Amino acid sequence: STPSPRSNARAEFVVVANRLPVDLERTADGTQRWTQSPGGLVSALEPFLRSRKGAWVGWPGVPDVEVDEFSDEGLVLHPVTLTSDEVRDYYEGFSNATLWPLYHDVVARPVFDRGWWESYVRVNRRFAEASAAVAGKGATVWVQDYQLQLVPTMLRELRPDLRIGFFLHIPFPPVELFMQLPWRAEIVRGLIGADLVGFHRPGGAQNFLWLARQLIGLEPSRGSVGVRSRPGMVQVGDRTVRVGAFPISIDAAGLDSLSRSKAVQERAAQVRRELGDPKTVLLGVDRLDYTKGIDLRLQAFHELLQEGRVKSEDVAFVQLATPSRERVEHYRQMRGEIEQIVGRINGEFGRVGHPAVHYLHQSVNRSELAAFFSAADVMVVTPLRDGMNLVCKEYVACRHDLGGALVLSEFAGAAAELSSAFLVNPHDLDGVKNALEQAITLDPAEGRRRMRALRRQVLTHDVDRWARSFLEALGTEAAA
Ligand code: ADP
Ligand code: F6P
Repeated sequence: STPSPRSNARAEFVVVANRLPVDLERTADGTQRWTQSPGGLVSALEPFLRSRKGAWVGWPGVPDVEVDEFSDEGLVLHPVTLTSDEVRDYYEGFSNATLWPLYHDVVARPVFDRGWWESYVRVNRRFAEASAAVAGKGATVWVQDYQLQLVPTMLRELRPDLRIGFFLHIPFPPVELFMQLPWRAEIVRGLIGADLVGFHRPGGAQNFLWLARQLIGLEPSRGSVGVRSRPGMVQVGDRTVRVGAFPISIDAAGLDSLSRSKAVQERAAQVRRELGDPKTVLLGVDRLDYTKGIDLRLQAFHELLQEGRVKSEDVAFVQLATPSRERVEHYRQMRGEIEQIVGRINGEFGRVGHPAVHYLHQSVNRSELAAFFSAADVMVVTPLRDGMNLVCKEYVACRHDLGGALVLSEFAGAAAELSSAFLVNPHDLDGVKNALEQAITLDPAEGRRRMRALRRQVLTHDVDRWARSFLEALGTEAAA
């Protein structure tokens, strides 16, 4: 049956994402509380959406719970229930053991499982139905990310009156890799239901346009896609679908001002003292994910210590790693490997009270994170592939003092914008070691020059600009 908008469905602007911006957490004493969800999507969209009267449709982060819709500081949250089997098959399975590695250059081998695909279809339909029930007449619905690629077409069938946008937060792969997917045509058909399909980079948009021609016989425009300009066009019956590139960003002004606060500055100084006042603090901040290159940056650091190019009494390496997708095999394996490297480095180069690597498998809050960014001389961001990577932009936003240096992988979407970083090929370990050494021994005047250029980019291209440029291209009132 076709869900009709609920009588109270007045949402003019709806975000649909796998996760709600908050996760339900059950504490040991049986009570419940809501905490911020992990990942870049939530970091980027939450501040933007709170500033509008929007609704958010998503999963509360735990299986088998039914939660009624509720309001959270002006934002209306509509929880979608997933069973434990669906968490296993749709979320851990198809989303994170099939699509995630496939879209990240197959850095791990994707698993193709027909049962997982069926679950993905079923859950996408549930999200489409929930969105159809929440959106007011003629509303704008903005569907997010790889977990929900079938929602645009499913939702259009239920509610042809809606304006539908889709944005992919992870890389869209080279066509040769995408073609491995047994359900490749279904995914392209699912996305083409949107009025605007957005990617971080023009290359992703171009790949998608090629696939629309090859897999479903459409005739896309042939001109090259620009950044926030010249979207590709595809005619689908009487609809024109746009396909464009919109690099995502952060709440740069918010982080800049947070990092200037006395509390954060004091905490940053305290962090350095607690680390034993080393000459140089190196920092990594990631979800614990095998795409992030945490292992290889530790290996580069280890070799620099072994070769005496870096002295353990002069440096401290801090790695903050948010727990992520812990039941997926590739993640388990990577965690084991990282913890083994940390143990090995500390065994060889630590002293009592002074480990060489400070490893926290934990999530920290925003001001604590800003303090770490402010305290770090060298920020190390070395993904093998990353759609954008927000961490490097957050670091830059926190360095109003023009201090610090950024070592950044060429394979992060952000590299296209942050050309004044020390750009590295993460597969080239010697190159990574050289860049780390250069950043550690950087002349302060040169460092300030680089940081000024980085900040110019990040502060003028924030998440608000990203969202507005997307919504303008979608042609909606919500852009105002
Ligand atoms: P992804 O979306 O793949 O996780 P991004 O770099 O785009 O990668 O976004 C990660 C987000 O999660 C950033 O906002 C970052 O600050 C946050 N984050 C990552 N690790 C931690 C941590 N240990 N504690 C708190 N926040 C973290
Ligand atoms: O785009 C990055 C992303 O995959 C989001 O879609 C996701 O919400 C976030 O990282 C964190 O991952 P997860 O929701 O699987 O914990």
